[in-house]
Amino acid sequence: MAETWRPALAANEAWRTLTKREDAASGVIAPRSVADGAVVELREVTRESVRAICRLAVAPSQASFVAPNAISFAEALFEPKAWYRAVCADGNPVGFVMLSIDTEKPEYFLWRFMIDAAHQGRGFGRAAIGLTVAHARTLPNASELLVSWVPADGGPEPFYRDLGFVPTGEMDGIEVVARLTL
Ligand SMILES: CC(C)(COP(=O)(O)OP(=O)(O)OC[C@H]1O[C@@H](n2cnc3c(N)ncnc32)[C@H](O)[C@@H]1OP(=O)(O)O)[C@@H](O)C(=O)NCCC(=O)NCCS
Repeated sequence: MAETWRPALAANEAWRTLTKREDAASGVIAPRSVADGAVVELREVTRESVRAICRLAVAPSQASFVAPNAISFAEALFEPKAWYRAVCADGNPVGFVMLSIDTEKPEYFLWRFMIDAAHQGRGFGRAAIGLTVAHARTLPNASELLVSWVPADGGPEPFYRDLGFVPTGEMDGIEVVARLTL
């Protein structure tokens, strides 16, 4: 569904600024890149990590591509199909991934995915998709992982195509639906 998250992002940005000192207090540091040996993991979100994950944000120019993580948590609270993890590099939260897992259909959908603007371009996105795909492959009768993206300059289409996602020919609102064969 085509959604623009700018108002929520602005509210999140204000809260992020107010709470930024929590990152320093908890020892959050800039991790190494994957090329420099960073260990990328998908970790369960905990009471201790949730605020740091809500502080992660994409660049303003990317605001219409993905919801703020706080919105994703709110939606997940009311969606039993939601499965979500923090993307961590060297133990530090750098991104967020959320799947919609429907084992009855079955249908497995990459619902939300983001890497914080300050941590993009270091290989974390590619590594996190690799880990997400590995998880999807463990799900019952998993044959494909679906995603949809906003077709726009600077959008994630080249990123997903490079990872092997291919448009199905369907649209979800203004978003292009694509699949990766598992
Ligand atoms: C898309 C996104 C997750 C990529 O994360 P990342 O950590 O920067 O990606 P990586 O560093 O692992 O890059 C992997 C490759 O994709 C390329 N790439 C990443 N983002 C790209 C973009 N927007 N356009 C073109 N290529 C891109 C990188 O150059 C790299 O290529 P290389 O391996 O040949 O060097 C990140 O840019 C993001 O969070 N974007 C905003 C939110 C968004 O669009 N989410 C998807 C919603 S469907």
